[in-house]
Amino acid sequence: MHLFPAEPDVTPFLADELRRTAPGVVLRELEGVGIGADADLQGCRLAFARQTLPNAVAVQAVSINAWADRIIEAVAGVFPDAAPWRLHVWPGYGEGRAGENRCELIRTAVVERLKKRRRHLLRSLEDSEAVFDEETSLVQCFLTAPDGGWLSACRAPELHAWRHLVSCFPRGHVPWAEDKSAPSRAFAKLVEAEARMGRRIEKGQSCVDLGASPGSWSYVALHRGARVTAVDRSELREDLMRHPGLRLEIADAFKFKPEEVVDWLVCDVIAAPQRSMDLLLEWLREGRMRNFVVTIKFKGHDEYALLETLKREAPPLCADFYLTRLCANKNEVCAFGVV
Ligand SMILES: C[S@@+](CC[C@H](N)C(=O)[O-])C[C@H]1O[C@@H](n2cnc3c(N)ncnc32)[C@H](O)[C@@H]1O
Repeated sequence: MHLFPAEPDVTPFLADELRRTAPGVVLRELEGVGIGADADLQGCRLAFARQTLPNAVAVQAVSINAWADRIIEAVAGVFPDAAPWRLHVWPGYGEGRAGENRCELIRTAVVERLKKRRRHLLRSLEDSEAVFDEETSLVQCFLTAPDGGWLSACRAPELHAWRHLVSCFPRGHVPWAEDKSAPSRAFAKLVEAEARMGRRIEKGQSCVDLGASPGSWSYVALHRGARVTAVDRSELREDLMRHPGLRLEIADAFKFKPEEVVDWLVCDVIAAPQRSMDLLLEWLREGRMRNFVVTIKFKGHDEYALLETLKREAPPLCADFYLTRLCANKNEVCAFGVV
């Protein structure tokens, strides 16, 4: 069974999405934990799943050391020798720091035990949040109580095939970026999408920002040294308007076409979800950009099934395609990737 940790407010939408993705799927709703699903889901996109534990098994462990032993048993002789592996341990119970502290102690106990008995495994244990490559394996331990939870060991190269559903951030949680000088908090969405795909807007790159005002996404790109064409019906914040790297077009985002292929399309236009998805598909089909981050905004909760067309049509046009409800998203999801 694959386990999808989810908050109770998201569980019904995730369950619907799983049923649409794998008709006939057997779902197990685990109260306060998330959803278990028995189906072939590798390679799928699930906008409402921030993290996945492939082939998760229920574990009981009475002590910190017992947890550490379970984790090492799941890894030793299973993960490829001398290849990098990572360890995610996080709590899904209680209030305050108690669960976090227990998980920290479990991580320490794993390291201590490996120092004594399996130094080769310790040497290849990696502390990284980079996107999984074909060499890397991951063991996840999700404590739903001090003495019980779920364990998932996903070895290389299979993990790479799961990378659109298994986040390189523990529990799929990307810490909220802070920058008080940005025009609005919307900048956190772009920074989070970049972190999840392991690619950033770089110095000297070209970037089209559709629906750019007041300018947080342009602000991020300009601060990185990119050249930005911002398209909106309104101007951006005054200091950005004076920035030499910015060109503003007061125009309709849905009619704008770049003169040449750009490094980045970033789009946060307020529009009906179908329009934003059609815009992305048109840009992909026309090969107008090399990378993209596009927000798809919803008014209520009854339009999520529209995403299925995008999930079907976008991946074949991309080298890498992600679709996720970001930590920084409200009633939105974000499509991002590499063309
Ligand atoms: C959520 S805001 C964008 C915020 C921006 N990403 C930022 O970080 O500051 C959405 C923007 O889309 C713009 N917009 C909506 N429809 C548009 C259209 N058809 N053409 C151009 N801009 C549009 C609105 O004027 C608004 O500024």
